[in-house]
Amino acid sequence: RETELSPHDLIQPIFIAERDDDAREIPSMPGVRRFAVGDLAGEAEQISARRIPAVLLFGIPAKKDAAGSGAWADDGVIPRAIRRIKQARGDLVVIADVCLCEYTDHGHCGVIKEESVDNDSTLPLLARTAVAYAAAGADLVAPSAMMDGMVGAIRQALDDAGREGVGILSYAVKYASSFYGPFREAAACAPKFGDRRTHQMDPANAREALAEAEQDLREGADLLMVKPGMPYLDVIAVLRRRFPQAPLAAYQVSGEYSMIKAASERGWLDERQAVMESLTAIKRAGADLIITYFAKDAAEYLRRA
Ligand code: PBG
Repeated sequence: RETELSPHDLIQPIFIAERDDDAREIPSMPGVRRFAVGDLAGEAEQISARRIPAVLLFGIPAKKDAAGSGAWADDGVIPRAIRRIKQARGDLVVIADVCLCEYTDHGHCGVIKEESVDNDSTLPLLARTAVAYAAAGADLVAPSAMMDGMVGAIRQALDDAGREGVGILSYAVKYASSFYGPFREAAACAPKFGDRRTHQMDPANAREALAEAEQDLREGADLLMVKPGMPYLDVIAVLRRRFPQAPLAAYQVSGEYSMIKAASERGWLDERQAVMESLTAIKRAGADLIITYFAKDAAEYLRRA
Protein backbone atom coordinates (compact mmCIF):
# COMPACT_ATOMS: atom_id res chain seq x y z
CA ARG A 1 0.00 0.00 0.00
CA GLU A 2 1.54 3.28 -1.10
CA THR A 3 -0.61 5.65 0.90
CA GLU A 4 -1.39 5.33 4.60
CA LEU A 5 -3.68 7.70 6.41
CA SER A 6 -2.93 8.64 10.02
CA PRO A 7 -4.74 10.81 12.58
CA HIS A 8 -1.62 13.00 12.44
CA ASP A 9 -2.58 14.06 8.91
CA LEU A 10 -5.89 15.51 10.02
CA ILE A 11 -7.09 18.93 11.13
CA GLN A 12 -10.53 19.25 12.75
CA PRO A 13 -12.49 22.43 11.96
CA ILE A 14 -14.57 23.81 14.85
CA PHE A 15 -17.40 26.36 14.69
CA ILE A 16 -17.75 28.51 17.80
CA ALA A 17 -20.76 30.67 18.61
CA GLU A 18 -20.32 33.78 20.71
CA ARG A 19 -23.94 33.57 21.91
CA ASP A 20 -24.79 30.33 23.69
CA ASP A 21 -28.18 30.35 21.89
CA ASP A 22 -26.39 29.96 18.57
CA ALA A 23 -24.51 26.87 19.76
CA ARG A 24 -26.57 24.17 18.07
CA GLU A 25 -26.57 21.50 15.37
CA ILE A 26 -26.11 22.59 11.75
CA PRO A 27 -29.00 21.10 9.73
CA SER A 28 -27.10 20.97 6.42
CA MET A 29 -24.12 19.25 8.09
CA PRO A 30 -25.53 16.34 10.14
CA GLY A 31 -23.15 15.50 12.99
CA VAL A 32 -21.49 18.93 13.03
CA ARG A 33 -22.42 21.57 15.58
CA ARG A 34 -21.49 25.02 16.70
CA PHE A 35 -19.88 24.98 20.12
CA ALA A 36 -20.24 27.52 22.89
CA VAL A 37 -16.90 28.78 24.22
CA GLY A 38 -17.69 27.00 27.48
CA ASP A 39 -17.89 23.61 25.72
CA LEU A 40 -14.51 23.81 24.07
CA ALA A 41 -12.40 22.22 26.79
CA GLY A 42 -14.31 18.94 26.44
CA GLU A 43 -14.12 19.03 22.66
CA ALA A 44 -10.38 19.78 22.70
CA GLU A 45 -9.92 16.82 25.04
CA GLN A 46 -11.79 14.49 22.65
CA ILE A 47 -9.84 15.65 19.63
CA SER A 48 -6.51 15.22 21.41
CA ALA A 49 -7.51 11.80 22.68
CA ARG A 50 -7.91 10.73 19.04
CA ARG A 51 -4.34 11.92 18.31
CA ILE A 52 -5.49 14.65 15.93
CA PRO A 53 -2.83 17.33 16.28
CA ALA A 54 -4.65 20.48 15.20
CA VAL A 55 -7.91 22.38 15.00
CA LEU A 56 -9.08 25.18 12.68
CA LEU A 57 -11.39 27.71 14.29
CA PHE A 58 -14.33 29.65 12.81
CA GLY A 59 -16.34 32.15 14.84
CA ILE A 60 -19.99 33.17 14.71
CA PRO A 61 -20.14 36.58 16.42
CA ALA A 62 -23.10 37.92 18.40
CA LYS A 63 -23.15 41.11 16.30
CA LYS A 64 -22.09 41.99 12.78
CA ASP A 65 -21.27 45.38 11.28
CA ALA A 66 -20.14 46.83 7.95
CA ALA A 67 -16.41 46.58 8.71
CA GLY A 68 -16.49 43.22 10.50
CA SER A 69 -15.02 44.66 13.70
CA GLY A 70 -15.98 41.54 15.68
CA ALA A 71 -13.14 39.76 13.90
CA TRP A 72 -10.34 41.67 15.64
CA ALA A 73 -11.98 42.47 19.01
CA ASP A 74 -9.62 41.31 21.79
CA ASP A 75 -12.53 39.78 23.67
CA GLY A 76 -14.23 38.50 20.50
CA VAL A 77 -15.36 34.93 20.04
CA ILE A 78 -12.15 33.61 18.49
CA PRO A 79 -9.64 35.10 20.98
CA ARG A 80 -11.80 33.71 23.79
CA ALA A 81 -11.99 30.32 22.07
CA ILE A 82 -8.23 30.20 21.53
CA ARG A 83 -7.53 30.96 25.17
CA ARG A 84 -10.01 28.32 26.32
CA ILE A 85 -8.60 25.59 24.08
CA LYS A 86 -5.00 26.42 24.97
CA GLN A 87 -5.89 26.37 28.67
CA ALA A 88 -7.46 22.92 28.29
CA ARG A 89 -4.92 21.37 25.88
CA GLY A 90 -1.77 23.42 25.47
CA ASP A 91 -0.38 20.81 23.05
CA LEU A 92 -3.22 21.08 20.51
CA VAL A 93 -2.11 23.20 17.55
CA VAL A 94 -4.60 26.03 17.20
CA ILE A 95 -5.12 27.48 13.74
CA ALA A 96 -7.43 30.49 13.45
CA ASP A 97 -9.20 31.20 10.16
CA VAL A 98 -8.76 34.88 9.23
CA CYS A 99 -11.58 36.35 7.14
CA LEU A 100 -14.21 39.00 7.64
CA CYS A 101 -17.24 37.31 6.02
CA GLU A 102 -18.58 35.88 9.30
CA TYR A 103 -18.31 39.34 10.90
CA THR A 104 -19.66 41.69 8.23
CA ASP A 105 -23.39 42.44 7.99
CA HIS A 106 -23.18 42.14 4.18
CA GLY A 107 -21.43 38.75 4.34
CA HIS A 108 -18.48 39.69 2.14
CA CYS A 109 -14.85 38.91 2.97
CA GLY A 110 -13.77 42.56 3.13
CA VAL A 111 -14.60 46.23 2.92
CA ILE A 112 -17.29 47.08 0.34
CA LYS A 113 -16.72 49.98 -2.02
CA GLU A 114 -19.06 50.56 -4.93
CA GLU A 115 -20.78 47.20 -4.52
CA SER A 116 -17.61 45.12 -4.57
CA VAL A 117 -14.90 44.03 -2.17
CA ASP A 118 -12.04 46.52 -1.98
CA ASN A 119 -8.80 44.57 -1.85
CA ASP A 120 -6.36 47.10 -0.43
CA SER A 121 -8.49 48.62 2.34
CA THR A 122 -9.26 45.07 3.53
CA LEU A 123 -5.60 44.17 4.08
CA PRO A 124 -5.03 46.15 7.31
CA LEU A 125 -8.21 44.69 8.80
CA LEU A 126 -7.08 41.14 8.06
CA ALA A 127 -3.65 41.95 9.50
CA ARG A 128 -5.20 43.39 12.67
CA THR A 129 -7.37 40.27 13.02
CA ALA A 130 -4.35 37.99 12.67
CA VAL A 131 -2.46 39.93 15.35
CA ALA A 132 -5.43 39.66 17.75
CA TYR A 133 -5.52 35.88 17.27
CA ALA A 134 -1.76 35.59 17.69
CA ALA A 135 -1.97 37.60 20.92
CA ALA A 136 -4.64 35.20 22.19
CA GLY A 137 -2.27 32.26 21.58
CA ALA A 138 -2.95 30.96 18.06
CA ASP A 139 -0.06 28.91 16.68
CA LEU A 140 -0.99 29.62 13.07
CA VAL A 141 -3.33 31.97 11.28
CA ALA A 142 -5.10 30.87 8.13
CA PRO A 143 -6.14 33.77 5.90
CA SER A 144 -9.06 32.67 3.68
CA ALA A 145 -10.22 36.00 2.21
CA MET A 146 -8.30 35.57 -1.08
CA MET A 147 -7.23 39.24 -1.11
CA ASP A 148 -4.05 39.89 -3.08
CA GLY A 149 -1.20 40.73 -0.72
CA MET A 150 -2.91 39.40 2.41
CA VAL A 151 -0.11 37.01 3.34
CA GLY A 152 2.53 39.78 3.12
CA ALA A 153 0.39 42.22 5.09
CA ILE A 154 -0.25 39.64 7.82
CA ARG A 155 3.42 38.54 8.01
CA GLN A 156 4.55 42.15 8.39
CA ALA A 157 1.94 42.91 11.07
CA LEU A 158 2.76 39.75 13.04
CA ASP A 159 6.48 40.54 12.95
CA ASP A 160 5.88 44.16 13.99
CA ALA A 161 3.80 42.90 16.91
CA GLY A 162 6.63 40.61 18.05
CA ARG A 163 4.80 37.48 16.88
CA GLU A 164 7.52 36.16 14.58
CA GLY A 165 6.82 32.63 15.76
CA VAL A 166 3.23 32.56 14.56
CA GLY A 167 2.97 30.84 11.18
CA ILE A 168 0.72 31.36 8.20
CA LEU A 169 -1.32 28.61 6.57
CA SER A 170 -2.49 30.35 3.43
CA TYR A 171 -5.66 29.43 1.60
CA ALA A 172 -3.50 30.05 -1.46
CA VAL A 173 -5.63 28.20 -3.99
CA LYS A 174 -9.26 28.72 -3.09
CA TYR A 175 -11.85 28.24 -5.79
CA ALA A 176 -15.20 30.03 -6.05
CA SER A 177 -16.98 26.77 -5.29
CA SER A 178 -20.59 25.69 -4.89
CA PHE A 179 -19.34 23.16 -2.35
CA TYR A 180 -19.13 25.87 0.34
CA GLY A 181 -22.95 25.99 0.52
CA PRO A 182 -23.43 24.20 3.87
CA PHE A 183 -20.54 26.17 5.47
CA ARG A 184 -22.36 29.40 4.77
CA GLU A 185 -25.25 28.14 6.86
CA ALA A 186 -22.87 26.87 9.55
CA ALA A 187 -20.96 30.15 9.79
CA ALA A 188 -23.84 32.42 8.76
CA CYS A 189 -21.66 34.10 6.16
CA ALA A 190 -23.54 33.94 2.84
CA PRO A 191 -23.06 37.19 0.89
CA LYS A 192 -26.21 39.36 0.93
CA PHE A 193 -25.61 40.38 -2.69
CA GLY A 194 -23.29 39.25 -5.47
CA ASP A 195 -20.81 36.42 -5.03
CA ARG A 196 -17.10 35.83 -4.36
CA ARG A 197 -16.00 35.35 -7.95
CA THR A 198 -14.07 38.62 -8.08
CA HIS A 199 -11.44 37.23 -5.70
CA GLN A 200 -11.86 33.45 -5.45
CA MET A 201 -10.54 31.36 -8.34
CA ASP A 202 -12.39 30.17 -11.42
CA PRO A 203 -12.88 26.37 -11.14
CA ALA A 204 -11.74 26.11 -14.75
CA ASN A 205 -8.22 27.36 -13.97
CA ALA A 206 -5.22 25.25 -12.97
CA ARG A 207 -2.23 27.29 -14.15
CA GLU A 208 -3.48 30.25 -12.13
CA ALA A 209 -3.11 28.06 -9.04
CA LEU A 210 0.66 28.05 -9.54
CA ALA A 211 0.74 31.84 -9.66
CA GLU A 212 -1.36 32.09 -6.48
CA ALA A 213 0.85 29.61 -4.63
CA GLU A 214 4.06 31.23 -5.81
CA GLN A 215 2.91 34.67 -4.72
CA ASP A 216 1.88 33.45 -1.26
CA LEU A 217 5.20 31.67 -0.70
CA ARG A 218 7.04 34.82 -1.73
CA GLU A 219 4.98 36.83 0.75
CA GLY A 220 5.86 34.44 3.59
CA ALA A 221 3.31 31.64 3.68
CA ASP A 222 4.59 28.68 5.73
CA LEU A 223 2.03 26.22 4.40
CA LEU A 224 -0.15 26.20 1.31
CA MET A 225 -3.70 25.00 0.91
CA VAL A 226 -5.90 23.84 -1.93
CA LYS A 227 -9.65 24.10 -1.39
CA PRO A 228 -12.01 22.25 -2.02
CA GLY A 229 -10.33 18.82 -1.98
CA MET A 230 -11.74 16.00 -4.09
CA PRO A 231 -12.85 18.06 -7.13
CA TYR A 232 -9.31 19.53 -7.31
CA LEU A 233 -7.01 16.51 -6.90
CA ASP A 234 -5.17 17.49 -10.09
CA VAL A 235 -4.36 20.88 -8.59
CA ILE A 236 -3.09 19.26 -5.37
CA ALA A 237 -0.84 16.98 -7.44
CA VAL A 238 0.56 19.86 -9.48
CA LEU A 239 1.31 21.97 -6.41
CA ARG A 240 2.98 19.01 -4.71
CA ARG A 241 5.35 18.64 -7.67
CA ARG A 242 6.01 22.32 -8.25
CA PHE A 243 6.55 23.36 -4.62
CA PRO A 244 8.24 20.35 -3.02
CA GLN A 245 9.55 22.52 -0.19
CA ALA A 246 6.15 23.69 1.04
CA PRO A 247 3.89 21.70 3.34
CA LEU A 248 0.60 21.29 1.52
CA ALA A 249 -2.86 21.11 3.05
CA ALA A 250 -6.15 20.31 1.35
CA TYR A 251 -9.58 21.25 2.66
CA GLN A 252 -12.36 18.68 2.27
CA VAL A 253 -15.08 21.31 2.49
CA SER A 254 -18.61 21.38 3.84
CA GLY A 255 -20.31 20.31 0.60
CA GLU A 256 -18.00 17.32 0.28
CA TYR A 257 -18.89 16.37 3.85
CA SER A 258 -22.63 16.84 3.37
CA MET A 259 -22.73 14.84 0.12
CA ILE A 260 -21.20 11.81 1.81
CA LYS A 261 -23.47 12.25 4.85
CA ALA A 262 -26.66 12.64 2.81
CA ALA A 263 -25.96 9.65 0.59
CA SER A 264 -24.97 7.51 3.58
CA GLU A 265 -28.13 8.44 5.47
CA ARG A 266 -30.14 7.15 2.50
CA GLY A 267 -28.14 3.94 2.42
CA TRP A 268 -26.67 4.85 -0.95
CA LEU A 269 -23.07 4.92 0.23
CA ASP A 270 -21.17 3.14 2.99
CA GLU A 271 -20.15 6.14 5.09
CA ARG A 272 -17.00 4.71 6.61
CA GLN A 273 -15.66 3.46 3.28
CA ALA A 274 -16.54 6.66 1.47
CA VAL A 275 -14.86 8.78 4.15
CA MET A 276 -11.67 6.74 4.17
CA GLU A 277 -11.52 6.52 0.38
CA SER A 278 -11.99 10.27 -0.07
CA LEU A 279 -9.32 11.13 2.51
CA THR A 280 -6.89 8.56 1.11
CA ALA A 281 -7.40 9.97 -2.38
CA ILE A 282 -6.61 13.50 -1.18
CA LYS A 283 -3.45 12.27 0.53
CA ARG A 284 -2.44 10.18 -2.50
CA ALA A 285 -2.77 13.27 -4.69
CA GLY A 286 -0.10 14.92 -2.55
CA ALA A 287 -1.62 16.62 0.49
CA ASP A 288 0.41 16.39 3.71
CA LEU A 289 -2.49 17.61 5.80
CA ILE A 290 -6.25 17.32 5.38
CA ILE A 291 -8.75 19.65 6.95
CA THR A 292 -11.94 17.62 7.26
CA TYR A 293 -15.18 17.62 9.26
CA PHE A 294 -14.69 13.83 9.38
CA ALA A 295 -11.41 14.14 11.31
CA LYS A 296 -12.72 12.70 14.57
CA ASP A 297 -14.65 9.92 12.79
CA ALA A 298 -11.68 9.02 10.60
CA ALA A 299 -9.32 8.91 13.60
CA GLU A 300 -11.76 6.57 15.31
CA TYR A 301 -11.99 4.32 12.21
CA LEU A 302 -8.19 4.18 12.08
CA ARG A 303 -7.96 3.26 15.77
CA ARG A 304 -10.45 0.41 15.34
CA ALA A 305 -9.00 -0.84 12.03
C1 PBG B 1 -14.44 32.11 4.27
C2 PBG B 1 -14.44 30.64 4.26
C3 PBG B 1 -15.33 29.81 3.59
C4 PBG B 1 -14.95 28.51 3.89
C5 PBG B 1 -13.84 28.57 4.74
N1 PBG B 1 -13.53 29.90 4.94
C6 PBG B 1 -16.53 30.15 2.80
C7 PBG B 1 -16.46 30.97 1.60
O1 PBG B 1 -15.39 31.30 1.08
O2 PBG B 1 -17.54 31.34 1.14
C8 PBG B 1 -15.63 27.27 3.37
C9 PBG B 1 -15.34 26.00 4.09
C10 PBG B 1 -16.30 24.91 3.84
O3 PBG B 1 -17.16 24.96 2.93
O4 PBG B 1 -16.21 23.92 4.58
N2 PBG B 1 -14.13 32.63 5.50
